[in-house]
Amino acid sequence: MKKADRLNKLEMSKIRMTSKLMDQLEAEGRDIIRFTYGEPNFDTPKYIKDACADALYNGHTKYSDYNGPIHFRQAVCDKYERENGLKFSPDQVISTHGSAQAAYLVLTTFLNPGDEIIIPNPMYNIYRIIAEICGAAVKEYKLKEENEFQIDLKEMERLITDKTKMIVICSPSNPIGSVLTEENLRGLGELVKDKDLLICSDEIYDRLVYDGVEAVSPAKFDTMRDKTIIINGFSKAFAMTGWRIGYVITPSEFFEPLYLHTGHQVSGMADFILEACTVALNDEHKYGAVEAMRSEFDERRRYIYREINSMKHFSCLNPTGAFYIFMNIRKTGMTSDEFCDWLVKNYDVAMITGSCFGTEGEGFARISYASSIENIKKAMARLHEADKKLTEMGR
Ligand SMILES: Cc1ncc(COP(=O)(O)O)c(C=O)c1O
Repeated sequence: MKKADRLNKLEMSKIRMTSKLMDQLEAEGRDIIRFTYGEPNFDTPKYIKDACADALYNGHTKYSDYNGPIHFRQAVCDKYERENGLKFSPDQVISTHGSAQAAYLVLTTFLNPGDEIIIPNPMYNIYRIIAEICGAAVKEYKLKEENEFQIDLKEMERLITDKTKMIVICSPSNPIGSVLTEENLRGLGELVKDKDLLICSDEIYDRLVYDGVEAVSPAKFDTMRDKTIIINGFSKAFAMTGWRIGYVITPSEFFEPLYLHTGHQVSGMADFILEACTVALNDEHKYGAVEAMRSEFDERRRYIYREINSMKHFSCLNPTGAFYIFMNIRKTGMTSDEFCDWLVKNYDVAMITGSCFGTEGEGFARISYASSIENIKKAMARLHEADKKLTEMGR
């Protein structure tokens, strides 16, 4: 029996594949430093684990509603009002199985075969894959270093057609670590204000911003408010990747299909985990756990940024969001695949090849600095050696 045709382009995530290769090298006794996974190296804060245990022992072991209990949804609204200056009602919120399922839910709820979706290039891969499963035509807008990784609004204008159903944005960006400016988003709003399309805004890194930069949601603009569906989650800011909770915030108009559809996909999340997530949001100010992690990320970010730009063959722009650095490796004269391969084989430092995030990622390697500062220091010393070697090689 053959699988459904719509899954024909499905393949293993390159990030997971790279990690499997690292497992193999480590099993051979190599001391690999991994800058690969987008997974905080911190443990989930204790107050959240305690809340989970309490909920488990206090009867939260039954089905939850498809979109989660009202207090979870209220906590999400309070977070958005407090931190992002945006007011929503709990009736606009839907809990999901991580942001990954949120993306699956949003795209599969709205995309028909032949619809056009415009996604960033480079971009974390799930959006392209899900759009392809829907049979949608994927168009891409390029985020270029020479344009400080902002949306080229002229290009975007050309890409939007009558068939455009959705535009995806991701700020702060995975894999770039860049943040779209308010001005850039305002420009996008002007382009789409009279169009019948949706903006799918992946805001999973919105708490991880640096140098006083703010990650602005497109929902902040009157031009986009009623067309923006927000995707967010707990994995990154709260170091809760294994808990698998995310959420969608949608204009009321689109709530029902999303709600019914997720009901048939997952029938609600684990209730005791949603209780813990509610506490995570509501009590965060008491413990300052997210801020403590953010400030450690910031220290690592500054260090790597300085080190990279002190070398001859590597450079990067100041990354003001997420925990990624998109390192320009063009001066090595290698493709990004060749470079990542060469680096891990000769220097035991693993990065993700930029090209796996799209054609615009060619010439870059993604560093995830969700790794200890000791490891980062060791890796930077090895990168300096690689840099010297490249000079000796006449590069
Ligand atoms: C941009 C982006 N969106 C969504 C996800 C999925 O996150 P999760 O499903 O763990 O919430 C990730 C994970 O790396 C991501 O980088």
